[in-house]
Amino acid sequence: MITFVKIMLMKKIVVLTGAGISAESGIKTFRDSDGLWEEYRIEDVATYDAWQRNQELVIEFYNQRRKQLLEVEPNAAHYALAKLEARFDVQIITQNVDDLHERGGSSKILHLHGELKKVRSTVDENLIYTLKGWELKKGDLCEKGSQLRPHIVWFGEDVPMIIPAAELSAQADIFMVVGTSMNVYPAAGLLNYVPANVPKYFIDPNAKDFYNARNLMIIKEKAGIALPELVEKLLAE
Ligand code: APR
Repeated sequence: MITFVKIMLMKKIVVLTGAGISAESGIKTFRDSDGLWEEYRIEDVATYDAWQRNQELVIEFYNQRRKQLLEVEPNAAHYALAKLEARFDVQIITQNVDDLHERGGSSKILHLHGELKKVRSTVDENLIYTLKGWELKKGDLCEKGSQLRPHIVWFGEDVPMIIPAAELSAQADIFMVVGTSMNVYPAAGLLNYVPANVPKYFIDPNAKDFYNARNLMIIKEKAGIALPELVEKLLAE
């Protein structure tokens, strides 16, 4: 009860994160010059058509991502967001499928595009399982006997969490965008739900200036540098 009242009194900070926040942990982004989509074609590994054409290739692509996830650690940016919870009600909305926000200590995390460590049934989307290790195999079945697939939102698929994400964005007292090219919708449209008077920060070394959102401060810097500084500033105010 006391915790609930405390959160009600706290200002709400909503943070939309993308691949850039995990870059300093050693996970490749998608669209930077050495990004994953330079190495693979989206239509070969990240669509439902790809899954129907070549399940082995899609499984292998996500197995590699999952294997790598076991070898990396959260960075200063993830830890800074966890620290912010001392004074703010912090809600993270992430496009990332890694678990670095969880491991960094953040408590409220909404995954828009799924989670690498999870797999789900191909006949019942509500049958979701956490994989023990990194490897999903062809022939691994759900309890209804269908092949398990990565618990990932592929291009062209619905984004079921976008509605709660939009509602949370509308409730923000402060909104941050960190490490995303803002190329992929509907995630990139969340900024439109944030009230005009709400202060907004956009941290990304390549942040584009074309967003005509009001009260937007653009910080062209790496997340691991800029986010700890911004967090210290907000905690001191
Ligand atoms: N700190 C902050 N931002 C960084 C850093 C860093 N150290 N390094 C790179 N970036 C920025 C890049 O400048 C770029 O704007 O991260 C952004 C990464 O953009 P994308 O690769 O497009 O990743 P993202 O925006 O998360 O992609 C959205 O696309 O392929 C899909 O489903 C996938 O969730 C993903 C979605």
